[in-house]
Amino acid sequence: MNREKYSIYSKGKIGSLVLKNRLVRSATCDYQATEDGRITPQILELYKNLSAGGVGMIITGLLGVSSKGIGTKGQLCLYNDTYIEELTKLTKIVHETNHDTPIIAQLCHPGRQITQEHNSADCIAPSAVDSPILIKKAKEMSTLDIHSVISDFVNAIVRAKDANFDGVELHAAHGYLLSSFLSPYTNKRKDEYGGNVIRRTKIIREIINQAREKVGKFPILIKMNCDDHVPGGISKDNFKELATEITSTGVDAIELSGAMWDSLAFTEDFLGFLPVPIPESRTHIDSVEKQSYYYNYTKDLNLSIPIILVGGHRDIEHMEVIVKSGQVDFLSLSRPLICEPELPNRWLQGIGSKKSGCLSCNACMLFKDSFSCAFRRLHLNRREFETNLEQGWRAVFK
Ligand SMILES: Cc1cc2nc3c(=O)[nH]c(=O)nc-3n(C[C@H](O)[C@H](O)[C@H](O)COP(=O)(O)O)c2cc1C
Repeated sequence: MNREKYSIYSKGKIGSLVLKNRLVRSATCDYQATEDGRITPQILELYKNLSAGGVGMIITGLLGVSSKGIGTKGQLCLYNDTYIEELTKLTKIVHETNHDTPIIAQLCHPGRQITQEHNSADCIAPSAVDSPILIKKAKEMSTLDIHSVISDFVNAIVRAKDANFDGVELHAAHGYLLSSFLSPYTNKRKDEYGGNVIRRTKIIREIINQAREKVGKFPILIKMNCDDHVPGGISKDNFKELATEITSTGVDAIELSGAMWDSLAFTEDFLGFLPVPIPESRTHIDSVEKQSYYYNYTKDLNLSIPIILVGGHRDIEHMEVIVKSGQVDFLSLSRPLICEPELPNRWLQGIGSKKSGCLSCNACMLFKDSFSCAFRRLHLNRREFETNLEQGWRAVFK
């Protein structure tokens, strides 16, 4: 059944951008960049396939805004002008493949979440809070450090515009640096950058204000947590006040996600889901109830800017109900588009299952050298893949 008339396939707006549908590719690091964070043919191929697959807008994997803030092996960078020409190749291939697919650069500093392989990076945070799992205790940032990070983000926004991106997204979710300012769990500062919600969001407001002077109305989105899933962090009780304050900073849209690395130290009982590495990407999404796992946080949210909801969208019929509810404007997907970059067009044309082929197994995070869906790599031909989708992967692989 063709789904042209579905709300999901109606146009939507984010700032000055017009999206052909309500499906967004959520930021997904593909670990395919060169050692110094530059474009490779594999990355160009990946984004070409995403653009050809019909998604309404693409958000890149995280891009490093500072040479001392590289947290992930194989990530792309944007911390100096030499990256502009590189990244222009990426925006060009997306626009050439589908002129109506905007591409947004996600900008990130890892803050306190540094891995072993990047232990020389600046491990910084608003406060030096102990972590049950991180390898290093973060250094508390001075006011000067904060001003320097603000400049890094502003300069990266200007470079993203120069590289023909259609906008940027500030990565202020999942425990990374900007996220750690927003969260009362990691921000214990007593100065103007910590304390109440206005002061915890000051860093975002300053980035936006300074950026606006240089890039005008260039779309600036933000990804933030609606729940940190740690005691004393952002939660259902306090996130609406935070989201309202973030809206007033002048961002063009908010993408809602949740969790941080420290969440892993807590039990399934406390979390309400199985703690797995990269806890924002939950596993065992084996029922409709477990899908779209932050949807209930959007009830009565009433923000004046578009809401993009990420996390566990797997069934187009269920997703249509969510978009029709009007509580959410866009749905963003990560793992389903690793599995099937062609998914938006497949669903639109009514080919195959109403479900995504993604098992939410997270094996895509393991095979970093040849980033792809582990199950598609079994070299099944298209017909076998469709048949398996219809029967349900679990039935085939158990
Ligand atoms: C391989 C992989 C890489 C990811 N990289 C990023 C990233 O760079 N930035 C980000 O904000 N989220 C990242 N995420 C999280 C996703 O954007 C998304 O929030 C999460 O996977 C839940 O959505 P899903 O159920 O559609 O996968 C990544 C997820 C995966 C699986």
